[in-house]
Amino acid sequence: MSMSDTFTERLIRCRRELHTHPELSNQEFATTEKITAWLREADIRIVPLNLATGVVAEIGLQKSPIIALRADIDALPIQELSGVPFSSRHAGVMHACGHDVHTSVMLGAALLLKAREADLPGTVRIFFQPAEENFNGACHLIAAGALDNVSAVFGMHNAPELPLGTFATRPGAFYAHIDRFQITVTGKGAHAAKPEQGIDTIVTASQIVNALQTLPSRNFSSLESLVVSVTRIQGGNTWNVLPQTVELEGTVRTHNLKVREKIPETLTRVIDGVASAMGAEATLNWYPGPPAVVNTPFWAEFSQHVATGVGYQVQEAELQMGGEDFSLYLQQVPGTFVSIGSASEFGLHHPRFNPNEQAIAPAAAYFAKLADEALGALVQQQAAAQVASVD
Ligand code: NI
Repeated sequence: MSMSDTFTERLIRCRRELHTHPELSNQEFATTEKITAWLREADIRIVPLNLATGVVAEIGLQKSPIIALRADIDALPIQELSGVPFSSRHAGVMHACGHDVHTSVMLGAALLLKAREADLPGTVRIFFQPAEENFNGACHLIAAGALDNVSAVFGMHNAPELPLGTFATRPGAFYAHIDRFQITVTGKGAHAAKPEQGIDTIVTASQIVNALQTLPSRNFSSLESLVVSVTRIQGGNTWNVLPQTVELEGTVRTHNLKVREKIPETLTRVIDGVASAMGAEATLNWYPGPPAVVNTPFWAEFSQHVATGVGYQVQEAELQMGGEDFSLYLQQVPGTFVSIGSASEFGLHHPRFNPNEQAIAPAAAYFAKLADEALGALVQQQAAAQVASVD
């Protein structure tokens, strides 16, 4: 997988430019301008969509079929501590998830595809999607029409735990359903010395936290992937008063839609039961997040095959309990999401995250090839379907 030095260097320069000037979700204005300028410089056409941030480009002289490649472009509210010379100049903001890498990869794929535009058997649409970190960028792009007439969609995340030159994906469920809950426990405030005159929300909330541990272990099969975590508990403001209310917040993650759908009612039963036993009341607010990433088996296998062909070490990806709003595209069109090794000592969302930039150019070449071959496969499928319908 040797790439020309100038191509590799160009993509690394772009990545560093993005890395030095990271922007948070839905605020990627300068990032969008830069990407647009790089695309225009290469004479790549921009799809006119009504987007506040993010940009969609197209390459190809044949109108159909269309496949899409997606990069995310936003950064995180983290103060960078990596020590690299091109560190973030925006205080408290960092590309700590490597979306600068993803953007450079798909920009590189765009450049390579542009060089053979006349030979492409269809169109490749490239999404530079904003706001992945807060899970609302994909729905903006879909609402703007980015996914219209797309037959297959592909995306990547860099994987710091995988060595350079490693590729991983899996058919079916990959990333989890990501849901958030808030529970408000209401009792009756009282003097700390006279708890019998009140209804203690601190004790009730503590018992709810414990009872929630039985949600996965006693309500669902042990073979299901299911995590329930309480991440915030807030109540009271001094040492000698029992507070009237306590608030709990947390997240539920699973890969199984049937499990996901049963969680709110099970959660309600548990918190109602515990609260009423204590004479208190508990209310649940449920905030559904992005659904699980479910790869289409055909395209997962296809992407692995192409990866093997260009020299990647290909392995079956492990299930992820994290989330990805790429799932919203996969709910509407087939496709696959993949991991590419970026060999960082520190993981995603760590202030010292430092992916190996040598992952960029080979990944760009890979996605250009994948796009080209996917279009070829779609053209063949359509031709075969036409023959069948004539028969
Ligand atoms: Ni990410």
